[in-house]
Amino acid sequence: MTSTAATVAPASATSEKPPAPTPGTPGPKKRPRSILGLTLNGREREDLIPDGLLLLDYLREVAGLTGTKQGCDGGECGACTVLVDGQPRLSCSTLAVQVQGRHVETVEGLTEGGTMSPLQQAFHESLGAQCGFCTPGMITTAEALLRRNPNPSVDEIKTAMGGNLCRCTGYVKIIESVQVAAAARAAAGGGKS
Ligand code: FES
Ligand code: FES
Repeated sequence: MTSTAATVAPASATSEKPPAPTPGTPGPKKRPRSILGLTLNGREREDLIPDGLLLLDYLREVAGLTGTKQGCDGGECGACTVLVDGQPRLSCSTLAVQVQGRHVETVEGLTEGGTMSPLQQAFHESLGAQCGFCTPGMITTAEALLRRNPNPSVDEIKTAMGGNLCRCTGYVKIIESVQVAAAARAAAGGGKS
């Protein structure tokens, strides 16, 4: 009797085996990946990324540049704004593969030798930033404005920054910050604001 019992396999042993694949059934899908090559804050780099990766997630999670913020994640707040070839672009609404070969600048790239640029300094000193969540997007948008229009009027500042929302400042201090930066840039004879 004992020899018969020893030949019977426990039920658990058979249930742990993975189910045999059905012939013709496709296995788990691999996400298509691409090599993204770009110039990021003045430095060329390449990364292997999933094709559907958002630029915002690439910047924060692959490149480690967490200055760019995720606000609404729906193209409405401007917190995720970066510069692509000098133009403001919502990184939450842009695929990383769309900036292949382009020049991308984030708020980190607008510093000068590791210190704040005059524009960043102006936001700091003129109270253009309170909680600071909108500030990276405000600064990148303002940087693009001041590069093309070194002495913008209040209306021009409002128009250029109309897509950037702030819950804290009431915008007056943000406009003043841009004006202060424009004056500092003019006093310095132009260049990066
Ligand atoms: S997070 Fe991109 S526009 Fe709000
Ligand atoms: S400073 Fe807080 S959202 Fe603008």
